This record gives sequence, structure tokens and C-alpha cells, in this order.
Amino acid sequence: MDLLKQAIREKGNVLSENVLKVDTFLNHQIDTKLMGDVGKEFARLFKSAGITKVLTIESSGIAPSFMAATELDVPLIFARKKKSLTMTDNVYSSQVYSFTKQETNEITVSKDFLKAGDQVLIIDDFLANGQAALGLIDIVHQANAHVSGLGIVIEKSFQDGRKRLEKCGIRVESLARVKSLENGNVTFVDDFVSINL
Ligand code: G4P
Repeated sequence: MDLLKQAIREKGNVLSENVLKVDTFLNHQIDTKLMGDVGKEFARLFKSAGITKVLTIESSGIAPSFMAATELDVPLIFARKKKSLTMTDNVYSSQVYSFTKQETNEITVSKDFLKAGDQVLIIDDFLANGQAALGLIDIVHQANAHVSGLGIVIEKSFQDGRKRLEKCGIRVESLARVKSLENGNVTFVDDFVSINL
């Protein structure tokens, strides 16, 4: 998605060979117009998948997921990393370990909102090692619902997430695939696609 790649190039900040800071439009301040376009693109990619729910994880997954769910005209559910005051024990839960942050979160979703037979599109802001996505997939399976696909705003293709998820048979659609963050530069997987005439 060109507008997204342009935003990453112009506004992203490479913090290290592993971490890309995008808090001017995705992780802190949100570019609502860009998120609208992100939502439309996810909806276009998954429009024939019969999606009944969009599922994400708080907090940075919520903005792109909200726009996608609006476009698909289905409810959005976000998994919580901390149980809310009003949440009972009527929940699905899964453990998510973050290699980046070196911490484990128990993520939860109320059983009231995810139902057997739901066709679920999982959306997240970043795909690194795929642990958050695997936790969300686990929750969808606990509900006897179906994972129709995974929509990612920024994939770090030099990490293992996509490989791990595709091995589980999951359709992964990433709007920007970062090949490398070496030498302070962002390069994308499709920067080097050559056309053989
Ligand atoms: P994984 O789920 O794919 O295995 O990813 P990982 O544990 O490495 O990521 C943990 C958190 O760090 C996630 O956010 C993820 O979005 C974020 N993250 C991973 N790599 C990057 C990166 O290069 N840049 C930025 N900006 N974030 C990255 P989180 O803890 O859930 O935060 P939030 O959603 O509450 O903002």
C-alpha cells in the first residue's frame, strides 16, 4: 500500500535494526485519514471471506481494526491485556509472550462476543514474531470460531511471524512488508521486485 509505505519512509524513525518507531501516525498520534485508507484496503482484501467479526488486541491494533470493521460493517472486538473491572470469569484467555518486551501478558476476550461459527478477521499493527497473533488465534479456536485471515499494517519480514502463521495455514495479508532496517534505512520486500521482459 503506497500511502502507508510513504508514511513509513517519511515519518518513521528507525530506532535499531529491529525496531521501527511510527508513533506520529500509528502507535501514539493516529493519522485518521491514513487509517481510513488502511481500513478500506483490509476490507477490499477480505471482502469475499464472509467476515462476521474483526478481532484485535489493545491498544495500537484498535485504530486500524476499527476502520476495517467499519468498512466490512461488522463488530470489532479487542482482546484486553488487563482484565477490566466489569469483566467476570466468563472469558477466553491465552498467554502471549513478547520477545521484544520480554514479558508475558494474559489476554482475554469475553465469551459474550465471540461465538461458534464466527468468521474472524484478526488485525494488528505490527507482526514481529507472531506471538500476539497466535494468542488471538488460540482464543478464536477456544470459541469454536474460524480464523479467516490475519491483516497486518506493518510486517517485519526479517522476523519469524509470517513463517510461523503460514505454517498454521493462516492467510496473512500485510499492507507494508519491511525487509530490513539496516543502517537506519527502511527497505521493503517489494522494493527489489524486478520485471523480466
Ligand atoms: P509479536 O506479537 O509479533 O511476537 O511481536 P512482539 O512480541 O515482538 O511485539 C510486542 C509489542 O511490540 C507489540 O505492541 C508490537 O506491536 C510492538 N512492536 C514489535 N515490533 C515493533 C516495532 O518495530 N515498532 C513498534 N513501534 N512496535 C513494535 P504492544 O506491546 O502490544 O503495544 P501496543 O499495541 O499497546 O502499542
